[in-house]
Formats: sequence, structure tokens, C-alpha cells
Amino acid sequence: MNSPPVALITGGAGDIALGSAIRLAGIGMRTVLADISAERLDAAAESVRTAGGSCDQRVVDLSSPEACVALVEEVWDDIGPITAVLNAAAVTHRALIHEFTPSMWEKLVSVNLSSVFWICRSAIGRMLDEGKGGVIVNLGSVSGIRGIAGTPAYSATKGGVVALSRALALDYARNGIRVHVLTPPAIDTRLYRAMFASKADPVRARAEYEAGEAAGRVLTVAEIASLIEFLVRGEGPAFSPDPLVW
Ligand SMILES: NC(=O)c1ccc[n+]([C@@H]2O[C@H](COP(=O)([O-])OP(=O)(O)OC[C@H]3O[C@@H](n4cnc5c(N)ncnc54)[C@H](O)[C@@H]3O)[C@@H](O)[C@H]2O)c1
Repeated sequence: MNSPPVALITGGAGDIALGSAIRLAGIGMRTVLADISAERLDAAAESVRTAGGSCDQRVVDLSSPEACVALVEEVWDDIGPITAVLNAAAVTHRALIHEFTPSMWEKLVSVNLSSVFWICRSAIGRMLDEGKGGVIVNLGSVSGIRGIAGTPAYSATKGGVVALSRALALDYARNGIRVHVLTPPAIDTRLYRAMFASKADPVRARAEYEAGEAAGRVLTVAEIASLIEFLVRGEGPAFSPDPLVW
């Protein structure tokens, strides 16, 4: 019996990662969720299993390049060759640039951009050795295309993820390794809802924000997860270096 294809998902305890893991497990993939939060990781992995999917979990601080490399090596050697990677780990910090300290900037860069670089570096290295191709989906953000006020570091790291992904898509297309980057606007997640927590009237602030969206609402996790499943299945164009822009 063939072993199921493995999908490594960083930031695996997050809302988008979990929604995507359930979809990928639903098409028969063995998912591996990697996150810094052991508690939320337990809950996320349990949700995938409850939905009938296969799920392993790894507690890891992806701000360390060594930890990123070790994660890919360990999953590959202990669980199986990685067919798909979803890079979803990220942190945000709303502040103006003159309020930033070096450690605040370094944290955002290491988690949001460097972890994507090192995970891709290791996964692509092993995919090349294996010679069977693979797919990587990186979560950028609309902030990485047009910038979002009050998020200079987050926007900068997401712009880096977009440029990195496009370069990788060009470099490895001939090896059957597809690299995609999504640049969504707000999605209804913990991260999104936290934006309004500090407002005097969170409900009103959220309604005003959503009125400004093209559809009068934000995207749902289900919508983004179905798109991620579509990209992983590879039923669309085999190659596109352009980000999926909203
Ligand atoms: N939510 C949105 O509105 C939105 C919009 C566009 C893009 N995105 C992107 O989608 C991705 C997922 O977003 P989400 O809303 O599900 O976020 P989330 O906060 O729910 O998930 C991010 C996960 O990353 C983990 N993480 C943070 N630091 C880590 C570290 N050092 N090591 C390992 N894991 C770490 C967190 O614990 C968390 O579980 C992110 O890359 C985000 O930037 C989100």
C-alpha cells in the first residue's frame, strides 16, 4: 500500500492553517502541523483528526533557521517525503516605524520572511533529490503588494514573501516544483478579529471596515482553504509566477 502524500503546514495552529489542513487531509494527505504554541497545536491537530484526517504535530520556534531546517529534515525522514508545503506562520505588530525597536523588527522578519526562506530552501532541496516535484503555497498578504497603514514591518515581510515566491516559481518550474503565493486581504480569523479588540466600539469598527471591502465582507477561512486545496491538487495552470492578487 502506498503511503499518503505528506503536507507540512507551518503556523499549523492558526485559523487558515487549520482550515487548510482539514481540506488537505480530506483529499487523503497526511498533514503535519508545526507551530510554536503547543496548546493550540494540540487543539488544531485534534480538530483535523475529528474531521477524519491524518495529522501529526511538531512544536517548533520557526524564528530560528536551524529549527526550520531541522523540521523539514525530521518530517521527511520520520514521516515521509513532503509533497506539499503551506507556509502560514506569521506574527503581526501594529506600530508606526518610529516606534519600532530592533527586536520587534527582527521578530517579524524572522517568523514572517526568514522562516519561509529556510523552509523552502530545505523542502526544495529534498524535493530535488527525490525528483518527483512538489508544491509550495506561501501566504503573503495584500499588505505585501500595496502596503497597509500601521503595519510597516508586516507589510515589508509580506512583500518579501511575494518576491521570494515569484523567484522560486521561476527557478524550479522545470523541476516540477510549483511555488504559489497568495496575497489575500482580510480573512475572518483570530488575527483579523484582534484588529478591532482595542477599539472603543469593536462591532462598529468591524462593520465600517467591511463596508469598505469590495464584497462588503471579508473572506472566510473556508474560501481561502478551498483555494489552497485547489493549488495543492495542481488542477490549475502548472506554472504561474504571479501572485494570486485580490
Ligand atoms: N487573517 C488574515 O486576515 C490574513 C490576511 C492575509 C494574509 N494572512 C496570512 O495568512 C497566514 C495565516 O494567518 P492566520 O490569520 O491564520 O494567523 P494565525 O495568527 O491564526 O496563525 C499564525 C500561526 O503562526 C504561529 N507562529 C507565530 N510565531 C511562530 C513561531 N515563531 N514559530 C512557529 N509558529 C509561529 C502562531 O502561533 C499561529 O498559530 C499568515 O501568514 C498571515 O500573515 C492572514
